[in-house]
Amino acid sequence: MTGGIKVNKDYIKKLLPEINEIKNLKLRQAVINAWLLAMDRGKWKKIEKIPFTLLKQTSRTLVEHTRCVTRMAIAVAKTRRDLDFDVVVAGGLVHDVGKLMECELRNNKYVKSAYGKLVRHPVSGYGLVIDAGLPVEVAHIVAAHSEEGEKVTRSPEAVLIHHCDFIDYEIERQK
Ligand SMILES: [Fe+2]
Repeated sequence: MTGGIKVNKDYIKKLLPEINEIKNLKLRQAVINAWLLAMDRGKWKKIEKIPFTLLKQTSRTLVEHTRCVTRMAIAVAKTRRDLDFDVVVAGGLVHDVGKLMECELRNNKYVKSAYGKLVRHPVSGYGLVIDAGLPVEVAHIVAAHSEEGEKVTRSPEAVLIHHCDFIDYEIERQK
């Protein structure tokens, strides 16, 4: 393994410390791999300033949104105790990873990429997490977290991430 990959792995772990809440070490690594793969496919060197949405002007970043959704979902999963905890944490952490392919930095502005005009992040994200070795239960959360999920029956873990995602989005939207 090269130094560059190691630096990137530590970079992702630092940005998303909730990764350490995942008990299964293979799943933890697969979450990191999904973000590294997304950085590679989206040609990103740094991702901490990417906004969480392009639909409105916001200072909230994708990383802040991802952490907030994951932490809200962890709180609910700990309260209910009948959900697959690792799947919830992994799903929260990667639900928006496809946004790294949906947007790009052009003239110092974050805009929708040509790819993103054709493929929305739940779809690109599904491909990323499957290729990164995440199980279909987590890939289902990614594919179903947004409107795309209206066409399937969401798993309980996907229901949770879907709602936490919209809680964070709707509150932010009103600001
Ligand atoms: Fe989201």
